[in-house]
Amino acid sequence: MTEQDAAAFWDHRYSERDQIWSGRPNDALVATVSDRPPGRALDLGCGEGGDALWLAEHGWQVTAVDIAPTAVVRAKAAGATRDLADGRIAWVIADLRSWEPPGVYELVSACFLHSPIDFPRFAVLRRAASTVVPGGHLLIVGHADAPPWAMAHAHGRHHFLSLAEELAGLQLDATEWDTVASEVRRRGATGPSGEHATLDDTVVLLRRR
Ligand SMILES: C[S@@+](CC[C@H](N)C(=O)[O-])C[C@H]1O[C@@H](n2cnc3c(N)ncnc32)[C@H](O)[C@@H]1O
Repeated sequence: MTEQDAAAFWDHRYSERDQIWSGRPNDALVATVSDRPPGRALDLGCGEGGDALWLAEHGWQVTAVDIAPTAVVRAKAAGATRDLADGRIAWVIADLRSWEPPGVYELVSACFLHSPIDFPRFAVLRRAASTVVPGGHLLIVGHADAPPWAMAHAHGRHHFLSLAEELAGLQLDATEWDTVASEVRRRGATGPSGEHATLDDTVVLLRRR
C-alpha cells in the first residue's frame, strides 16, 4: 500500500462516523504520567486527540501526530473548546512511516498504534524511542486481542503482539532502558454500538537511563 492508501484508509474510517473513540485519555497513559512533572510529549497516532488533550490540560507541551486529516481536524476542534494555553499542542498530519520527530521528549506515547495497512511498527517506535531524553519514558499500549466488536474484521488479518514480542521487536539497548512495566491490564470498554466488554491491553513502559 502506498502512503496515500494508508491516509485514505484511515481518513475514510474516521469520516464514516462523527466520532470513533471515547474522547477520554487512555487509562495507562493517565497512570503513567499522573505522578510525574509535565514536560514534552510526543503522541504517535493521536487519533481524535483524547490523550494529547488530556496531557496538554495537565501542563504537557504536546506534539500529536496522525495520518488521518479528519481525525486531526476533529482533535484540533475539541482543543479549541477547552481552556488550553496557546500553542500547547502541535497537531501534525503526517505518515509516521516517513515522519521524523522534530524534537526530544520526556514522554513518547503510542496507544493502540495498530494499522491493517502495511506499517513498520517497530521502525516507527525505535525512531521515536531515540528522541526520549534520559529519565524520560516510552509508553506502548496495545490490544492483547481484538475487541469483540472487531473480531470479524481482525481475526486472520491482524496479529496481536504478546508482551514478549513487543519487547523483542523494539530491540532497544537493555543497557540504556529500564523496563518499568510489561503487563496485561484489564479494563472495561464500550463498543461502537454501546456494548460493554472487558478488554485486555498490553502495556509496556520503558524508562531511558
Ligand atoms: C487504533 S487508532 C488509535 C488512536 C489513539 N491513539 C487512541 O488511543 O484512541 C490508530 C491511529 O493510528 C493512526 N495511524 C495509522 N497508521 C498511521 C501512519 N502510518 N502514520 C500516522 N498515523 C497512523 C490512525 O489514523 C489512527 O488514528
